[in-house]
Formats: sequence, structure tokens, C-alpha cells
Amino acid sequence: MPARQLGLNVFLQRHGHHPAAWRQPSASASGRPDLAWWLRAAKLAEAARFDSFFIADFIGRSGAVTPDTGRAAIGLPFEPFTLLSAIAAVTSHIGLIATINTNYEHPYHVARKFSSLDHLSGGRAGWNVVSSFGEHTARNFGILEPRSHAARYARADEFVALSKALWDSWDDDALDQPDRAGGQFYAPAQGHALNFQGEYFASRGHLGLARPANPHTVAGARAA
Ligand SMILES: Cc1cc2nc3c(=O)[nH]c(=O)nc-3n(C[C@H](O)[C@H](O)[C@H](O)COP(=O)(O)O)c2cc1C
Repeated sequence: MPARQLGLNVFLQRHGHHPAAWRQPSASASGRPDLAWWLRAAKLAEAARFDSFFIADFIGRSGAVTPDTGRAAIGLPFEPFTLLSAIAAVTSHIGLIATINTNYEHPYHVARKFSSLDHLSGGRAGWNVVSSFGEHTARNFGILEPRSHAARYARADEFVALSKALWDSWDDDALDQPDRAGGQFYAPAQGHALNFQGEYFASRGHLGLARPANPHTVAGARAA
């Protein structure tokens, strides 16, 4: 029987997970995004041999003011793909997991961004797929009607299915060996144009990026 291995993931919030953690004297003093803090944390996690570095993301702010407003640290965090791209450049093998919500994006954009992150990190991208639906976040996006639990998850299923199909829209090696002498940059037969028509999304054609190094990276990251 193959040896079983436990994967260890790091999940940090810049101002701590407790709402008052920011008041600790050793806590980060500023509410501005701080790239140096994140780079240092990721490098420490990699040196400590963690398998993956996870970025949670709860997008949206309501703008409501109550007596408690302003008392908890509001992590107004970096957008996950942008932050993980910077982290990818200073690490070499820790997995990089971005939280992306399926209610507010189109799969084409997300598949492209994950493929980009995967290529530039050497196959280390992972996706925490969420479909959480806070009322104030929805309003940030101009969505006024609630979405049922079933509809959110049906949409998420379709979102992931289309993302996978987009990653698969090129063969692994489709763009690896342009034929200079023959003047053929790639073989059209190695591209598989989609004709996807779902309940929530439609997409025809290819993803505009070579197949990721670590295709179908959903819900998990790999460490070297
Ligand atoms: C450990 C954990 C981490 C989560 N991280 C996020 C997150 O980063 N962003 C987010 O929008 N939702 C996050 N969620 C929320 C879940 O995706 C889910 O929407 C929530 O648990 C409510 O369940 P429901 O969607 O079935 O109603 C997280 C949930 C758990 C349990």
C-alpha cells in the first residue's frame, strides 16, 4: 500500500483571525495592503515545508455604519491572483491557492487567470471554489435579487465544468514546437474549440493561453 501523506496548508489573515488581533502590539500597524508582509509569510511557510499557501477572499463592503463600524480590522486585501503572482516570483515549490467566487466572474476570465498563475508558478496554482452570496457583496455588483442555494451551486458546477473545458481546449504540447521551416506555428488539430452552452454560461472557441502545467487544479495544490 502506498504511504499516505498529510498535506499541510497555511491560512493567514494579515491582521489575524480574531477581530481584535490587530490590537496586539506585535500586530501589523497599518490597514494598507502590505506586499512585504505577504512575501515574508509565504517564504517562511515554504521554508517550513508547508504544502500550500491559501488566500481566503470575502469580496465586497456594504458601506453601512453601525456603532461597531471601524472596530474590527478590515482586511481590505489584495486581489488573490495579483498577490499570488507576486508570491510565485519569490517562492519555488509551495502551492498557491486562490479563493474565487463563482457568483461574480465569468469562467473565461477565471480559467485564463488560473492558467496564467499556473504557468508562471510552474504548476502550483490551486482554486478554492466558493459560491457564498452575501447581500452586500451582491449589491457591490448591482445584483439585487437573492440567489437560492441550489442555483448558486448549480452555477458553481457549471462554472467549474466550463473552466476545465477551457483548459482542455489545447493539447498539452500544442504550442511547444512551432515548425519554423514549414511555417506552421501550431497544428490546428491540437486545438479543440468549445461550443459550450449551459444554463448560466456560454463559450465558443479556445482559451487564449496554452494548456496549464497542472491542468484541473481545482480544490487543491501540489507541492514539488
Ligand atoms: C473553512 C471555510 C473557509 C471559507 N472561505 C471562504 C472564502 O474565502 N470566501 C468566501 O466567499 N467564502 C468562504 N467560505 C464560505 C463557504 O464557501 C460557504 O459559502 C459557506 O460556508 C456557507 O455555505 P453555503 O454556501 O452552503 O450557504 C468558507 C467556508 C469555510 C467553512
